[in-house]
Amino acid sequence: MGRVVLGLAVGCAVVACGIAAVAVGRRVKSRRSWARAVAVVTDLEEGCATPYSRLRQVVDAMAVEMHAGLASDGGSKLKMLLTFVDALPDGNETGTFYALDLGAATFRVLKIQLGGKQSRILWRQVEQHTIPPALVSSTSEDLFDFLAMTLKNFVERNNDGFEQSDKRKELGLTFPFPVRQLSVSSGILIKWTKGFAIRDTVGKDVTQCLQEALTKRGLDMQVAALVNDTVGTLALGHYYDEDTVAAVIIGTGTNACYIERTDAIIKCQGLLTNSGGMVINMEWGSFWSSHLPRTPYDFALDDETLNRNDQGFEKMISGMYLGDIVRRVLLRIALESDVLGNSARSLSIPFILGTPLMAAMREDDTPNLEEVGKILEENLQMPDLSLKARRLVVRVCDVVTQRAARLGAAGIVGILKKIGRDGSGGVASGRARGKPKRTVVAVEGGLYAGYSTFREYLNEAVVEILGAEVARNVVLRVFEDGSGIGAALLAASLSSDR
Ligand SMILES: *[C@@H]1O[C@H](CO)[C@@H](O)[C@H](O)[C@H]1NC(C)=O
Ligand SMILES: *[C@@H]1O[C@H](CO)[C@@H](O)[C@H](O)[C@H]1NC(C)=O
Repeated sequence: MGRVVLGLAVGCAVVACGIAAVAVGRRVKSRRSWARAVAVVTDLEEGCATPYSRLRQVVDAMAVEMHAGLASDGGSKLKMLLTFVDALPDGNETGTFYALDLGAATFRVLKIQLGGKQSRILWRQVEQHTIPPALVSSTSEDLFDFLAMTLKNFVERNNDGFEQSDKRKELGLTFPFPVRQLSVSSGILIKWTKGFAIRDTVGKDVTQCLQEALTKRGLDMQVAALVNDTVGTLALGHYYDEDTVAAVIIGTGTNACYIERTDAIIKCQGLLTNSGGMVINMEWGSFWSSHLPRTPYDFALDDETLNRNDQGFEKMISGMYLGDIVRRVLLRIALESDVLGNSARSLSIPFILGTPLMAAMREDDTPNLEEVGKILEENLQMPDLSLKARRLVVRVCDVVTQRAARLGAAGIVGILKKIGRDGSGGVASGRARGKPKRTVVAVEGGLYAGYSTFREYLNEAVVEILGAEVARNVVLRVFEDGSGIGAALLAASLSSDR
């Protein structure tokens, strides 16, 4: 009996000893694990670093590439496309104008009434429509007829009696597929994207397609402007503020355009008659420079995209990709440590972490990061993470956001440098003429307008690069709906009556 008790006691001691050993082992292992997780994040921070010197290199590279893209077609990854827009709205426009703003599967029709400088936009009417799925892979005739019919119904429904019915209506068309512009109101479709597969439009003039459909439907309306959404944003900015010289979209995708002096557009001198300026669509998402701080996560992301080796800048700064860069870093942490629990499986699903969720985590200001916990649990099946682990996740979101915002800022300053508005004393610079000129950049897109951390980092970086004195004259101003209102305003400033 006694022996049995003894034996049990010994047995218990052995077990207890074993448990203690496991606990110590776990602590050591978890400490090592934590160190590995932190190392992943520290590496990321180093790889994403954008100190002042680095940003200046990106600024210079942007300006150099802009020059190269203007010198010859294919001279740079920046396409620097001519838009033929040489008259931006300035607020003096009067009359009624229309826009057709094609998204992908949805589109909007708009009507605005302009009252000149005092009253600006007197009235606006907007309708949202959906393209029937069958038309997405039909013929261009069917698609454009549908658009023309919708426009006609819209015009008839919104006939307020004020508009002169005998006057030809003017329309701005925002077209979200790659086109090669031939004039301000015509352009050849290069290819369909965004899931559209229409057999017979590639190589055709999209304005003419719409124009013919409008005529067939008996609507006396002229397509006065074929507009890229970035150009619409510039038009909208310029309408309200004539110091607006450039527009940048930073949302799901990213692009920029600006007003260039005609004599600086070397590659197409024969086409340019006007001696003033013209809006250039940079297509800056494809900007590339070896100075951009690129990490293994960026390489891996690029490898897995359909447009590999293309849109390099966009893949580092736009909303389409930021969440997925964060996901890739978190996956690395999950593979190298147990800090994120058993979450590698959900984290290996591409694009499972969208940028809006990433932004919401970065902006969580609850004391215990409850929102972060909720997002990770509900969207990534990562329940019960420690506060420490959630803090680490936020740090990753912060690093990726900050790099994107600061590179975006460098891109913007690159444009200002190219047009002599960066205070460096170029020929056209304000400083050279004595008084610095006020310079406005119109900005549109959810990443900037809706994500305050991103916006603050970007704004701070602009000041950091330019210096406080020069930055005082540079204003980044948010405008919304350049692709709709801006297109209608361009129809106004470019309309045949002017
Ligand atoms: C716009 O109108 C104002 C006031 O009527 C005028 O001073 C200004 O020159 C006009 N601007 C243009 C570009 O026509
Ligand atoms: C114009 O803007 C859209 C985004 O709406 C883009 O996808 C398209 O390729 C742009 N560029 C050209 C040259 O059409």
